[in-house]
Amino acid sequence: MSYNYQDHYFHRARKDRYLSRAVYKLDEIQKKYKIFRPGDRVLDMGAAPGSWLQLVSGVVGSRGRVVGVDLKEIAHSFPPQVKVYQSDVFEPRFRDFLLREHAPFDVIVSDMAPATSGIKAADSARSELLFEQSLELIREQLKPRGHFLAKIFQGSQFHSLLQEVKRQFDWVKVVKPDASKKKSKEIYILAMRFRKPSPPSSPGDEKEDRGAQA
Ligand SMILES: C[S@@+](CC[C@H](N)C(=O)[O-])C[C@H]1O[C@@H](n2cnc3c(N)ncnc32)[C@H](O)[C@@H]1O
Repeated sequence: MSYNYQDHYFHRARKDRYLSRAVYKLDEIQKKYKIFRPGDRVLDMGAAPGSWLQLVSGVVGSRGRVVGVDLKEIAHSFPPQVKVYQSDVFEPRFRDFLLREHAPFDVIVSDMAPATSGIKAADSARSELLFEQSLELIREQLKPRGHFLAKIFQGSQFHSLLQEVKRQFDWVKVVKPDASKKKSKEIYILAMRFRKPSPPSSPGDEKEDRGAQA
C-alpha cells in the first residue's frame, strides 16, 4: 500500500468526523450486504476507538442497541443506544454479564486485533485464536439466523476455521474491503443466518429468531 492510499482514508475519516479510518471497511460491507437493520441489537468486539460504533448506532437508530467492548477505554460520547465497556470480551464474568444484560444479539462483529509482534506467523496465530474464541462466544450470544462478521489475519488455521463457520451459517463470504491495506493479511469473514443448535426444550426460541428477511 502506498502512503497516499493510507492518507486518503485517514483524511476522509477526519473530514467525516469518524474516530478511525476502519469505519470505511464496515461501511463498504454494510452497503453491499446490509448486515444491520434499524432496531437491531449489536455486539461490537474490539470497538476502540469507536468508529464502527458511530456507524452502527446510526443504522440501528434509537430503537436499537449497540454494545461496544474493548481492552482499552472508549472515551468518545455516543448516542444513548450505545453502551461501552472496558474488558477482555472473553473474560467469563464479562460474558455472563453480557448474557444477563444485553444478549441475544442480532449481529455480532469483531474488528479485534492482537497486539502485533511483527512476526507474521505469531501474529496470525494470535488473530486466529481470537477468531476461534469469538466463534465460541457467538454460540451462546447470537440469535438464531443472526449475522457474524469478524476480522482474521490469515494463517495456517484459516481454512479449517472457515470450514467451521460454513458449518454454522447458511451463507459465508470472505471479504477484503477496499479500505483494508492490500499488503495486510487482514481479511473479514462475513457469515449470515446462524444455524443455532436448539436447546432440548425452549418454548421461547421463536420469539428470539431474527426472522427470514435478513
Ligand atoms: C483495529 S482496533 C478496532 C477499531 C474499531 N473497529 C474502530 O472502528 O474504531 C482492534 C481493537 O481490538 C481490541 N482487542 C483485542 N483483543 C481484545 C479482547 N480480547 N477483548 C476486547 N478487545 C480486544 C484492541 O484493544 C483494539 O482496540
